[in-house]
Amino acid sequence: MVSKRSPNEPPEGRRLEENTTVALYGSGALVVIGPCCVSLQGSGFHASRRQKYGNVFKTHLLGRPLIRVTGAENVRKVLMGEHNLVTVDWPQSTSTLLGPNSLANSIGDIHRKRRKVFAKVFSHEALESYLPKIQQVIQETLRVWSSNPEPVNVYRESQRLSFHMAVRVLLGFRVSDEEMRHLFNTFQEFVDNVFSLPIDLPFTGYRKGIRARDTLQKGIEKAIREKPLCTQGKDYSDALDVLIESAKENGAELTMQELKESTIELIFAAFATTASASTSLIMQLLRHPAVLEKLREELRGRGILQNGCLCEGELRLENICSLKYLDCVIKEVLRLFTPVSGGYRTAVQTFELDGVQIPKGWSVMYSIRDTHDTSAVFKDVDAFDPDRFSQERSEDKEGRFHYLPFGGGVRNCLGKQLATLFLRVLAIELAGSSRFELATRTFPRIITVPVLHPTDGLKGPPPFTALTWTAKRRNGLLKKEEKERGRAGESETDREKKGIKNVGKAGVLEQRSAVCKLRAAQIEGTPHPLKEGLPLEQIGARDNGL
Ligand code: HEM
Repeated sequence: MVSKRSPNEPPEGRRLEENTTVALYGSGALVVIGPCCVSLQGSGFHASRRQKYGNVFKTHLLGRPLIRVTGAENVRKVLMGEHNLVTVDWPQSTSTLLGPNSLANSIGDIHRKRRKVFAKVFSHEALESYLPKIQQVIQETLRVWSSNPEPVNVYRESQRLSFHMAVRVLLGFRVSDEEMRHLFNTFQEFVDNVFSLPIDLPFTGYRKGIRARDTLQKGIEKAIREKPLCTQGKDYSDALDVLIESAKENGAELTMQELKESTIELIFAAFATTASASTSLIMQLLRHPAVLEKLREELRGRGILQNGCLCEGELRLENICSLKYLDCVIKEVLRLFTPVSGGYRTAVQTFELDGVQIPKGWSVMYSIRDTHDTSAVFKDVDAFDPDRFSQERSEDKEGRFHYLPFGGGVRNCLGKQLATLFLRVLAIELAGSSRFELATRTFPRIITVPVLHPTDGLKGPPPFTALTWTAKRRNGLLKKEEKERGRAGESETDREKKGIKNVGKAGVLEQRSAVCKLRAAQIEGTPHPLKEGLPLEQIGARDNGL
């Protein structure tokens, strides 16, 4: 039903009750991340609105009316109405900084064609080729965490991790640590200002954003031009290679400008979302040792975890994707701790939703988080229960719009396969090679802006660091545990069954290769490295009473 009313008139249909909450740019009140925005109000605020006014209600954003939409059926209508009922509408600064060639700025046929070119970047074949790099980046990161004598701020470090993943996997850059740090800082400057007021004056956020974007583009261009040299001797390609090839295949060779904008957009979309999900995954594994143990059981059952070590050769894409329980864990993390709260659109025509008329020109926000939180298909909706996604229960089978961490419709997340692969590898590495615990007494509070993350994971020196890794040995905790273990007379196998592994001097994360050596020695009858007189540093985890 198309109404001839002006956008500012009260709509027909059910009365739109109004609550006036204005979010402001630059004040941190409106924060927009990746391809989606989230507003200041917390979920409690929206829950009370929903109870009062229903699943489609009016609120305000930046002084403009906004319709907030919850519930599978309503969300389905919005998402399936892309280009027809609704379209994306970015703030001016975002459009300019991401560039005219970005997916964010394309609609209709151009959007469809661009997605087709991108599809190959996330194909099964491409993911297979990225896997070794993903694993390498994760392993390196865990090694750095483990050697850090101080507690690690997981959210901040996860941001670094997801940035490294994006730079290495998507761009295939091989940069020094120093260059990586510089790139990361520049990228953060870009992200911080992508949603600034579009005032191009010295010292404005917008100008800083433009400068950061230009620096990033320069770096990317240099790397692209040097690419033939860099690829020598590589046995797999990166996303940039795949993108260039895919564009050629689709008869639309990309210009340098298009390539630069595309890569920045991909890193931008991957950065905060993946960092949020990684942090939530780690938190849930910490909170639910039984889940972690069940994951380890699955890895053992599939021969991926043997004698307390991950068997490198077993980590192939098909193996990883066939791990059913792991899949349930990742799904449950993304359901309960959905990184992106929703997506924003603008109505291109007046239409009706759940008895409410939405006038042309109004903003519409479909809420992923609220939809997850209120969906009747999920039993005991607030509980972290990965088994709800098991084959027997399959609570998400009721209809795809009840569960949508990656959005839906023609603008659904392009990188969802890459994101889930990354999270799976992270979970495997954590379960198979790490030992970790909370350094604080309690779990931090979770906030939902700019993406969902623990409060204390925000930047800031201790004591603001919250979800942290800790060197147990330094706290004397391990010693206590070792004593207890000694008293209980636990064998190595018993300990492994409980998911307890040797902890190296460096800290929580054990030195896996050294443990492998040690265990191999025990199993295959090779001489014990200590008896061989190897220096302790080379063996790593062996001062644990072995
Ligand atoms: C756990 C991690 C991730 C989550 C939860 C997530 C979530 C989402 C959501 C909800 C949307 C749709 C937004 C809307 O409807 O407006 C989206 C779009 C998008 N995502 Fe992701 N994302 C993740 C990781 C990634 C990664 C790793 C990449 C790429 C490397 C990526 C690339 C994109 C792109 C390019 C779009 C825009 C698609 C379009 O406009 O056609 N995302 N993502």
